[in-house]
Amino acid sequence: MAALLFSPFALRGVTLPNRIVVSPMAQYSATPDGCATDWHVMHVGNLVISGSGLVIMEATAVEPRGRVTLGCLGLWNDAQAAALRPVVAFARSHGQAALGIQLAHAGRKGSVGRPWDGQRTLAPSDGGWTTIAPSGDAYPGRPAPAALDDAGLDSLRAEFAAAARRAGELGFDLIELHCAHGYLLHSFLSPLSNTRNDCYGGDLAGRMRFPLEVFAAVRAAFPADRPVGVRISATDWLPGGWDTTSSVAFSRALKLAGCDFVTASSGGLRPEQKIEVKPGYQVPFAAAVQEEAGLPAMAVGLLDDPDLAEQVLQKEEASLIALGRGMTWNPRWPWHAAEALGAAAPHPPQYARSQSNMRRGDMFRPQAEAAR
Ligand SMILES: Cc1cc2nc3c(=O)[nH]c(=O)nc-3n(C[C@H](O)[C@H](O)[C@H](O)COP(=O)(O)O)c2cc1C
Repeated sequence: MAALLFSPFALRGVTLPNRIVVSPMAQYSATPDGCATDWHVMHVGNLVISGSGLVIMEATAVEPRGRVTLGCLGLWNDAQAAALRPVVAFARSHGQAALGIQLAHAGRKGSVGRPWDGQRTLAPSDGGWTTIAPSGDAYPGRPAPAALDDAGLDSLRAEFAAAARRAGELGFDLIELHCAHGYLLHSFLSPLSNTRNDCYGGDLAGRMRFPLEVFAAVRAAFPADRPVGVRISATDWLPGGWDTTSSVAFSRALKLAGCDFVTASSGGLRPEQKIEVKPGYQVPFAAAVQEEAGLPAMAVGLLDDPDLAEQVLQKEEASLIALGRGMTWNPRWPWHAAEALGAAAPHPPQYARSQSNMRRGDMFRPQAEAAR
């Protein structure tokens, strides 16, 4: 049977050449004002020629307080858009993968140092800021955030929409809206971080309201023929927290709002979460979304065994397979997975002779001549 992992997948007007997605991975390598650098051209460039079907660029903030660190990307002004242009241009001229971007707001988890600098809270003298959140509840060990008022919510909807518009103008094929990992939109969803007593808090419908409004604003600002999906933390891994049942309800509401896929990640809301990490550990969440909400799900989390990735698709537990660390460890994973599954993955012509079916030819004769 032909490998599903290497079969195309259509999302609105975008057809991915296969089901392998490079998961967004923050690089903490932007300039202090949120602009992409040479690192992003190299990092994304390397991944769009990897044989994957889609590369989603890292969490990109919609306003200055939406960054996690001072090395995070932003898309709230034209200078940031201009700095992303070479990244998109490389993908267009040399890549075989579609290119997406993740739009994000760090909320109460922002204003910290880069991971390799210890990720400590940034003092104002080091460029730190007061974070924002649905309510004044702090992420454990961090300063209390400012609770958003109505004017703050209005600005944020507009900022997400403006970033989506810029992403569309830049030519990104897809947007993933970040509603996971304890960041702002996730902190609206979870009862453990949203203690508002207005229509944006309280019961499930209240807590979903703002993330759904942001989704609608992003969807309306991005070209109608290009997909918008949402990344969720399907569970907080904490008693009394957000869970799979709420995730299915949220996915159903997203589907009605025109969402094209849901990525089922998990955790990140509080440090005391207890996660049993093993290959495919988040697949059951993707399966719940796909089966119960009827929305294509993207599975993620330790899926870098080609047989496991293929099984998840064969069992219809997900429609897309995202890899993060597996792709920076081995950026040629899709080629190797294709070989293991008896399929073919896209590659740039410059690297054609490294493909296994081309390797036995005469090194010093041009390819066409050697094939004669
Ligand atoms: C260096 C690094 C940066 C990450 N940055 C993001 C990010 O910007 N947005 C996001 O949603 N997830 C982010 N993640 C999570 C990954 O997208 C992915 O969900 C996670 O690593 C699990 O998949 P894996 O086992 O294939 O790595 C990051 C992970 C790593 C390792």
